[in-house]
Amino acid sequence: MYISSWPGLTPYEFLQGHSHGLPYPLNAANRTAFCVARSGIYHLFRALEFKKGEIVLVPDYHSGNEVSAIRAAGATIVYYPILRNLEPDLDALSRLAAKLNPRVIYVIHYLGWPQPMKEIAAMCRERGSILIEDCALSLLSEPDGKPLGATGDYSVFCLYKTLPVPNGGLLVQNRNILGELAGLKLQRCPQTTAIGRSAELALEALRSRADLIGKTLFGIKRSFGRLLRSADVRQVPIGNIGWNLGDVNVAMSSICDTVMQRLDYDRIRRKRRENFLLLQQKLHGRVTMLREDLDEGVCPLFFPILVRDKHAAAKALWQRGIGAVEFWNEERPVAERDSGPEAQYLRAHVLELPIHQDVGPAQVKYIADQVLSLDLQPVS
Ligand SMILES: Cc1ncc(COP(=O)(O)O)c(C=O)c1O
Repeated sequence: MYISSWPGLTPYEFLQGHSHGLPYPLNAANRTAFCVARSGIYHLFRALEFKKGEIVLVPDYHSGNEVSAIRAAGATIVYYPILRNLEPDLDALSRLAAKLNPRVIYVIHYLGWPQPMKEIAAMCRERGSILIEDCALSLLSEPDGKPLGATGDYSVFCLYKTLPVPNGGLLVQNRNILGELAGLKLQRCPQTTAIGRSAELALEALRSRADLIGKTLFGIKRSFGRLLRSADVRQVPIGNIGWNLGDVNVAMSSICDTVMQRLDYDRIRRKRRENFLLLQQKLHGRVTMLREDLDEGVCPLFFPILVRDKHAAAKALWQRGIGAVEFWNEERPVAERDSGPEAQYLRAHVLELPIHQDVGPAQVKYIADQVLSLDLQPVS
């Protein structure tokens, strides 16, 4: 069996049609679509015209892409601690806000779960800080009927992590619209990037259904990719951790719009929730889960578990055909380490299991059986 990490692209995505209209943020009045979300973050911070010494409070559990983009735009970052439940240490955040009067408080909603926005928005109001919501991992999550990303002044979304699209990052301005962003001149996404990644997504979908054919075609695709690289054809990296100032003006490719017009977003959220709850039921009491709660409207990106040896567990699951994802292993030298102990714990032990909309009940059962067969050591 093969279960991809991300949802695949099938002809069905181009053929289906439904009449519900696009959900937030895809229908937001003020939105700009980039090839990747980090470009939107960069342009937002550039447009905010940071002066030397003006501070952004950023969570110490982060991918690195958002941090690179904020830094490249000239802002000064101070980190606030994230706890083991993925929520900020509100006391520490409040103390930092009182001491530093930050220009921006930057919030990351992890894997679909909401942060305590009421408290953080109140802090922002009290200090006159701008509130930015990073929903790169939380598209379609709407706890209590309010979409994540709709509270802050600005929000950013990564589309290709939740939807079967080859690229796409969205910057949304909910208020205090910045004129500079309207004047941005974006370049077309290179066709090779869009077509290459679309082919990969199609092969993922095929491999999930027919492992051997998909595997063979993947080999051909990989050779073709090597050929393009050796011919020095321009590619914009998608889904990587890295920063290249030369890519910040690349727009989302048009194929994304075509696919997004046709998707059934209620189904995507429902399937992800069903898969989460089914896997939770199968693993309950036998594996350490990072979050067991799933409030109404929350759209989980993955099913996060805590394992002692994350690399070994991920490798074993990949050998069994399960696309487990290891978020944010990046270890920095101690001297420049920006993560506190709790964030380091999350970096070391959280393993993400796929539960996206293409995963069916038999695959969820397979994931559960394989995870349980690994005899994972409990993590302290
Ligand atoms: C929390 C967070 N913010 C921003 C980004 C940037 O997204 P993109 O890869 O679309 O640039 C990522 C990507 O991993 C992320 O995890």
